[in-house]
Order: sequence, then C-alpha cells, then structure tokens
Amino acid sequence: MNKSVGILTAGGDSPGLNAAIRGVGKAVLGYYDMNIVGFRDGFRGLMENRTMPLDRSNLSGILTIGGTILGTSRDKPHKMPVGGKMLNMLDAIADNYHANHLDCLVCLGGGGTLKNALRLKQMGLNVITLPKTIDNDVAGTDSTFGFDTALGIATEAIDRLHSTAHSHHRIIVVEIMGHSAGWLTLGAGIAGGADVVLIPEIPYDVESVADAIRARARGGSPFSIVAMAEGAMSKQDLATIAAAKANGKKSANRGQDKPKTDDEAAELLYADRTLRLAKRLEVLTGLEARVTILGHVQRGGAPSAGDRLLATRLGTACADLIAKGTYGVMVATKGGGTTPVKIEDVAGKVKTVPHNHSWIGSARRVGTNFGD
Ligand code: F6P
Repeated sequence: MNKSVGILTAGGDSPGLNAAIRGVGKAVLGYYDMNIVGFRDGFRGLMENRTMPLDRSNLSGILTIGGTILGTSRDKPHKMPVGGKMLNMLDAIADNYHANHLDCLVCLGGGGTLKNALRLKQMGLNVITLPKTIDNDVAGTDSTFGFDTALGIATEAIDRLHSTAHSHHRIIVVEIMGHSAGWLTLGAGIAGGADVVLIPEIPYDVESVADAIRARARGGSPFSIVAMAEGAMSKQDLATIAAAKANGKKSANRGQDKPKTDDEAAELLYADRTLRLAKRLEVLTGLEARVTILGHVQRGGAPSAGDRLLATRLGTACADLIAKGTYGVMVATKGGGTTPVKIEDVAGKVKTVPHNHSWIGSARRVGTNFGD
C-alpha cells in the first residue's frame, strides 16, 4: 500500500513555505508515488479535520509565492482556544491523524512547532518537521528558510534609510524582527553597513551607543543607522525588569497590579523602547532621530532564490525520509547537505548568536558598535 502523508504549516509564516510544500508534495506524489493531503491553518485545521487535497495542479506555480497556501496559525495542540476555553486537543488531533490513515505528518514550522511536534511524537504519531523562520533561531540546523529573504528585505531597508539619514543628518533607529535571537539584525546590520547593531544576546548601554554616534559626527559623519532587534534590551531596562520582578514578588499577596514574572515586566518595557532609545539618543547626541519599524514586511512577499533552493532541498529530503520510514525527526541542514536530527534533541532550544560568533567579530572589525 502506498504511504499517506499529511502536511501543515504552523506558527508565523515565512517566505519559502510554499516552496517547501511543493518540494514535499511533488516528491511524494511524482517521485515516490505516495499520497498527500494538506491541513489548513496549522494544528487547528488538523484538530478540526479541515483538509486541502494536494495534487500536481495546485502544487504547480507556488514555488515563487509568499505566505502559505495552507494557511497557518499559532494554535498549540495541547492548549487550544475552543468555545471560549483553553483545551487539550491532542486526542482529537491523533484521532484525525488516524482517520486520514496517515503514515506521517509533516509540520513546517519553527521553535514552537518543534515543541508541538514532540507532543505528537510522544503520543506515538509519526512526525517530521522542516525548520522555517525568518529568525534563523532553530537549534540543530545551520539554516532555516525565510531567513535569507528577510535578510534581503532588511538589508535593502537599511540601504534606503542610509540615504535619507545622510541627507538630513539624522539618526535612524530601525527595528528588525527577532525576539530571542539577533541573527537577522546582525546579518542585515553587517550587509547594510549599520553603524550600531543591538541584539538580544548583547545588552547595550545607551551611553556607549551615543558615544559611537558622537564619534562619527566628530569624524564628519553626522548621521547614523542603528539596527535594533525587537528583543534587544538595554542594561538599564534589564535592571528595571529585575527590580520590577523583585517588587512584583513582594507585592503579589497585596493584590497590586505589579509584574510578577520576567515576561510581564519585560512587556512593560518592550512596547515603546525603540522610540525611547531614539528620544534618548537625541538628547545625548544633539542629533535629530527617527524610528522605522520594519514589522511584517520582513515576512511577506516572494522568497529569495536562496530560500526557494533551501526549501526545495529540505522538502525533497523529507520525502526521502518518509520513503525510508525515518520519522520523529527534523530535517536539518549541515554543511552543504541535509540530515535528520531527533525532534527531542532540538525541541525547546533556541539558537542564539554566540558572543564569539565570526559575524560579530567581522562587524567589530569594520567598526560596528554593539553598545557594550
Ligand atoms: O516568525 C518569528 C517572528 O517573525 C518574530 O521575529 C516576531 O517577533 C514574531 O514572529 C511576530 O509574529 P506575529 O506578529 O505573527 O505573532
């Protein structure tokens, strides 16, 4: 009997998802003569058994298209909002897996999807994940698809911001996606020649950033580009969070509206910190400052050639593994090739930028300031 494969896309979308669906689908159908069915909107669609038949005709023409033809959601199988309640829907998901006579479920996603796939694996389902995210922060793989496209978009934005910052003698703080890992900001900062790069892995000192900008102005460049990751935190903000957390613990029993966890405290400082940094830099440097938040532009639109290639390599490698009966793995890239890694070895881990990473070394050698 030919094998039957299910496929879904989960978490935030990422350029290259359609290329990966096509890679898996075409290899499964055309090369291995197996069956494939799509589930809509991530794990929610699998729970609700909302399927999308995949065939040669709807797998054609999607290689170059952004987003995902299957739709996506951030719903988690074990904690899904259903009828106004958060319910564990793992059993419903397993039932639909079996009702569709699946031999394997392919989940295209990032860190959250890996954790969800592990839950399904622990229930005895055959799962394979492919690493996607513009953040490039999935552990156990050299690369994730989506990153290369977003890198190009963020780099082009920095290029464009340079000319206007230069003309107006301004500081422009450009906020780039990445809550936990600074790969995108660091990569685009280097490729776009940002003067300051602020990433979550290196807490920054506002004074040090201001010093670097003032030094540039003294040297005849009264404009600067500050590339700041969403998750970058100043040393000052981190100290405030630590104090708020301690304060929250003390006040928890008194029912006061104080933050009780790192996350809640960080939330209070997250919202406007790009703006706060720009305002502070104006005061410290005497230069005018502006803020640009790139946001979801970084995730939209056609995938780059690099991401189309990567997604196709991962998708077809996934079909090879299904044909061999190798399940419970993420298809990772290693060197020039692909390799399966056990889901439990990578789920729950985040690949952050090591302080001694060569990209940081290169950036420092061309004079980039990290605010440390
Ligand atoms: O996909 C990862 C990511 O792009 C993060 O960098 C970003 O913080 C997050 O998604 C935002 O996603 P959403 O607005 O879809 O929740």
